[in-house]
Amino acid sequence: MALSTELATDFAALAAKYPERRAALIPALHRLQAMRDGWLSPESIEDCAEWFELEPVEVYAVASFYPMFHLAPVGEHVVGVCRNIACHLRGAGRVLAEVENATGAKAGSTSENGRFTVETLECQGACTAAPMIVVDGEYIENIDPAGVGEILGGLE
Ligand code: FES
Repeated sequence: MALSTELATDFAALAAKYPERRAALIPALHRLQAMRDGWLSPESIEDCAEWFELEPVEVYAVASFYPMFHLAPVGEHVVGVCRNIACHLRGAGRVLAEVENATGAKAGSTSENGRFTVETLECQGACTAAPMIVVDGEYIENIDPAGVGEILGGLE
């Protein structure tokens, strides 16, 4: 697989914002992941490396370092539950239990129907609004555990 014309155009637009092409690698990986079912396959890593004129292992090193990049298939929706100190103290454990109950997926896994991937997160910088979850990249703050089912059930 090679980069589509659309992705190559997007990569070029991102690279134009930086003094060096490789500085655009992280935003390019976000774009690539979004365009390829929410995860970065080995082929995607190779495609990205080719465009950036890097070795695949260099791209893999970046993609594997940051938890927002997925290196295995994910469900239609990715639900992250922050479990760091502020969220922990304000009920993240109950939130996670409700998320697992509502999705049918334990933390670190994908539901059998492929609809949800649940993951735990370190601090997302939203401690003043703890506890919080991240659903498909969107922050949902001051989560009431009792409302988790309604939030996730309302996703298309
Ligand atoms: S501890 Fe959860 S956002 Fe900081």
